[in-house]
Amino acid sequence: MISPTRLQKLAKEHGTPLFIVDHDALRKAYRTFRKHLPRIQVYYAVKANPDPAIVRTLFQEGASFDVASMPEFMIVHENIKRLPAKERQEWIWDKIIYANPTKPTETLEELNQYKPLVTFDNLEEIQKIKQHAPNAGLVLRLKVPNTGAMVELSSKFGASPGEAVDLILEADKAGLGVEGISFHVGSQTTNFENYVQALNLSANIFQEARERGYTKMNLLDIGGGFPAPYDDTVKPFEMLAKVINTELDRLFPKEIQILAEPGRFLAAVSGTSVAKVIGKAVRDGKTCYYINDGVYHTYSGVIFDHCKYPVKAFKKGPTSLCSVFGPTCDALDVVSMAENLPDLQRGDFVYSVNIGAYSHASATYFNGFPPAKVVHVNQ
Ligand SMILES: Cc1ncc(COP(=O)(O)O)c(C=O)c1O
Repeated sequence: MISPTRLQKLAKEHGTPLFIVDHDALRKAYRTFRKHLPRIQVYYAVKANPDPAIVRTLFQEGASFDVASMPEFMIVHENIKRLPAKERQEWIWDKIIYANPTKPTETLEELNQYKPLVTFDNLEEIQKIKQHAPNAGLVLRLKVPNTGAMVELSSKFGASPGEAVDLILEADKAGLGVEGISFHVGSQTTNFENYVQALNLSANIFQEARERGYTKMNLLDIGGGFPAPYDDTVKPFEMLAKVINTELDRLFPKEIQILAEPGRFLAAVSGTSVAKVIGKAVRDGKTCYYINDGVYHTYSGVIFDHCKYPVKAFKKGPTSLCSVFGPTCDALDVVSMAENLPDLQRGDFVYSVNIGAYSHASATYFNGFPPAKVVHVNQ
C-alpha cells in the first residue's frame, strides 16, 4: 500500500479528488494469481479499469485480455498494432476473448477481421455470428450458480446446462467452430462452492458434447469472480486457488486449456482515492462530511457494484459515527451513512483503499463535476 504520507503529498501536488493507480500492486496481484493458479492463462477483464496504462502494465507482464466492447478491444490492440500481421493475428487468437455474449451486428462486422474468440449463449447470437463474424472462434457461456456473490450475473447471461450441447451442435451445424465453454460465478464470489459447482457442470457439458459426437472443444474459461481482499471476511486467495486446482486436475485433462477473466482481483488493490472535506454539518446529532468525490464519481461502485469502501482519515483522534456525502446536489450521492471518523475540518483529506475496480471506470460528469484526476505511481 502507498504510505499515508505519500498519499497526502500526491493530493497536495495534484489536487483532489485524486485516483491513484499503483502499478506495483497491480503487478503483485497478477503474479499472485499466476503463482497460485499456474495452469490458468490470465485474461484481465478490461472493464474493471480500462485505463490504457493498466492494460500496458499487464501486457508487459504477459497477460491476456477479456474485452466486452470494441473500444476495449482497441485499447488492447494499441499494444500490438506494430506487430507483423501474422504475429498480430496469432496474438489476438491466443490472448483476447470478446466475452460479451450479446454483440451488436456492427461490432461483429468490425471484429471479424481480427478473428478473436467470442462468447455466445443463444440461438439468435449463433445466427448473428454466422452472418457477421464467421471467422470468430466460439465459446459457449454457461449459466452457473452465483450464490452469495456480491454481483449476480446469472440472470442476464448464460445458456442453461440443459440447452448447452444443443447450442454447441447448432453452432457446429452453422459451420462455426466452438472451442470451449465459459462461465462466471458472480463478481466478488466469497462462496468458493460456486466454482466447484461450475467446474462440475462444465465437465458434464464436455462429456455430453463428446457423447453426442462433438469432440472439438479444448478450452475452459472459468471467468472472473475472484474476490478482492476488501475486508477480513474474505478468505485468502490461496484457499480458493487450492479448491480450483483440485477440481481442475480431477475433471479436466492436461490438454484442455484453462483460462480465467479476473477483473476485480487485479484492479481493486491497485486503486486508492483521496478526497477533501468541502463541508460539514450536524444533522439529527450526527456529523455529516461533504467531500469532493462521490457516487457519481470514484465511489460509483457503491451504486453500480454494490460495493462499500470505508472512508479513512489521515488525522488521528477520538472518532464518532458520521455520514459521508458526495459533492453533487443529488440525495443519492451518499458515500456512507456509517463511518467512524475523527473530528475533521474543511480542507482535510480522506481516502479509500482497494477502490481500483468498477470505480473510476464508471465515473460520470454528472452535475458538472468531472471524474477524479488519475495519477500513476510505480509504473
Ligand atoms: C464476462 C465477464 N468476465 C469477467 C468479468 C470480471 O469479473 P470480476 O471482476 O468479478 O473478476 C466480468 C464482470 O462482470 C464479466 O462479465
